[in-house]
Amino acid sequence: SISAVILCGGSGSRLWPISHDMKPKQFLTLLGEHSMLQQTVARVQHPLFDPKTIFITASSQSEMIGEKMARQDHVIIGEPCRRNTAAAAVAAALYVAENNPDNDLMLLVPADHVITSPAAFHEAVSQAKAAAERGYIVTFGIHPETPETGYGYIKRGETIAKGIYKISEFKEKPDEKTARKYCESGEFDWNSGIFLFSAKKFLAEIGRFEPEILKAVKSSYESAERIGNLVALDEENFGASPSNSIDYAVMERTDQAAVLPCDFGWSDLGSYRSLYDIRTKLKAPCHPADAELLNSKDCLVVSDGPQVNIVGLDNIGVIVDQGRVLVLNLDASQDVKQIADIHKKSP
Ligand code: GDD
Ligand code: MG
Repeated sequence: SISAVILCGGSGSRLWPISHDMKPKQFLTLLGEHSMLQQTVARVQHPLFDPKTIFITASSQSEMIGEKMARQDHVIIGEPCRRNTAAAAVAAALYVAENNPDNDLMLLVPADHVITSPAAFHEAVSQAKAAAERGYIVTFGIHPETPETGYGYIKRGETIAKGIYKISEFKEKPDEKTARKYCESGEFDWNSGIFLFSAKKFLAEIGRFEPEILKAVKSSYESAERIGNLVALDEENFGASPSNSIDYAVMERTDQAAVLPCDFGWSDLGSYRSLYDIRTKLKAPCHPADAELLNSKDCLVVSDGPQVNIVGLDNIGVIVDQGRVLVLNLDASQDVKQIADIHKKSP
């Protein structure tokens, strides 16, 4: 079976102020009654996957996750500091390669996604398995609806199996002009951020492109402190790893990757724009019942109490959380990160 690895160590700074270090986005219930993390875990409780779920997260969040997942067979790999998703994926791959050497396929899944059709998701994973066994790093492509700049774009190359293509080009977070060109070409998919691969294969690719990440994370894994089901990576070594995402570090460079275009009702809940879009798509309310919107349309309101009123504005988000207010043009949703960074430096 496949080892499910849940990537859940990001801070979700594009959803500031409701998401922050002490309450990262995967613990929020922005849609439905379950947190995104709970929904992610539920999706990998399936015969395709090993019953033991692997979480890779910041050490500071490991207790929170351990409590919430107490009834679940799991292991938590704790990162002493943030070195982005390439380093996190390496640590998880080392764990899988060590514990399941003969069956080292792993599915790397972010915890900030909504998938409305889990059955189609499971079907896609099982369809991708053969390609991953042949040594491909398989991505799950999503039809690009808008020239969103916060995603990776994947160009389909030659067919390698039914419905699966070799990746001929991978571009992480292109500028808007490029994204528009990609969308219009009809040859690109969005990268869903979910990856299926052999742990050993992934480690070999990282070793080719980012030997320093591999070296640092390997040392931190070898000197990790193991307490119960927590693997606490060693700070000195892990901290020495360059910080890079799996997309830039591996996906833009490897020629061993494949894409399976899918339709499982995927949305990324990483920004206020995507929160607005998915609520609209699911016909969920985009503002609390007591908010008044006069001569205004396409607005998103999230408030933990104060009543919000909007007059004559379109495409605006008003976010109120614990005495902090964010007013934004929804088209500038990606830039909220910069505000979060400013407050991180001077709280
Ligand atoms: N453990 C750990 N450590 N997890 C992390 C870290 C880290 O340092 N940094 C981020 N994550 C987690 C986040 O919590 C999230 O679940 C996932 O990794 C992806 O990180 P994001 O920061 O949300 O990435 P992104 O949304 O900018 O881009 C990725 O996802 C897009 C689709 O949602 C890329 O893979 C894009 O190519 C892709 O289109
Ligand atoms: Mg994301």
